[in-house]
Amino acid sequence: DGLAVVVVAAGSGTRLGYGLPKALVPLAGEPLLAHALRTVREALPAAAVLVTVPAADTELTALARRMGARAVTGGASRAQSVARALAALPASTEHVLVHDAARCLTPPAVFARVLAALREGARAVVPVTPVTDTIRRADAEGRSTGTVDRSVLRGVQTPQGFDAALLRRVNRAAGLLPHESAGADDAALSASAGDTAATGGTGAAGSSASASGTDPEGITDDASLVEHHAPEHPVRFVDGDEESFKVTRPLDLVLARAVVDSRAG
Ligand code: CTP
Ligand code: MG
Repeated sequence: DGLAVVVVAAGSGTRLGYGLPKALVPLAGEPLLAHALRTVREALPAAAVLVTVPAADTELTALARRMGARAVTGGASRAQSVARALAALPASTEHVLVHDAARCLTPPAVFARVLAALREGARAVVPVTPVTDTIRRADAEGRSTGTVDRSVLRGVQTPQGFDAALLRRVNRAAGLLPHESAGADDAALSASAGDTAATGGTGAAGSSASASGTDPEGITDDASLVEHHAPEHPVRFVDGDEESFKVTRPLDLVLARAVVDSRAG
């Protein structure tokens, strides 16, 4: 019904330090990707699911296929992996959710909230949580320059939801997707408001971003690309969940095991 989910799983898991791509790291006897794909299926049984996998990987590819998903070779950065998956989306895709495989225990209710916001007309949706640490600002020498008011801050999670044409358009504007595949999306969307990025922000900087394997500066997620290249489409918040935490460092895996145990009852 025009819904696709991109599960990005092409990272190496350096910080986890397992010597395995993170999506293959075992949790309660199964790879992280199996947990992630199970929650996606449970939440959105009818969605087309695409998984980005490391180049030359065969294990994650086979796992994705067994679980009814399509495997796409990822890129050198998360953003490039997302762009490669966008290039492989079914043409009929209306809404796309982009989700970190590393957030393998995300509750189905979070997917439902993101999708509901899209169906209400939001074009870019991010699940967020309150910031619980006290946050201080530091200068270049590492000296304290004061406390930040955390009530205005939010932690950003996935799945992030998008109008598919908009996400493709901002990926092109960032030089992450080729312009050859442009066309109807650009015309339809840039006609909607005073956006200059689609025509102006696409030069050498964008091209070098894809060539070098680094992402556009200061842009670490998909919604930030929308903010930067299509500011006429405000990013909508929905409630995230603390169980959507990203497995990043070894301690996160300890927590993930505890969550799996608690769900098993
Ligand atoms: N990811 C991806 N392609 C990349 C880099 C990351 O698909 N080139 C995915 C990861 O697989 C992960 C998500 O993006 O599901 C979030 O990235 P992160 O937590 O940084 O995972 P890794 O890059 O694997 O970990 P690290 O940075 O510690 O190497
Ligand atoms: Mg990474």
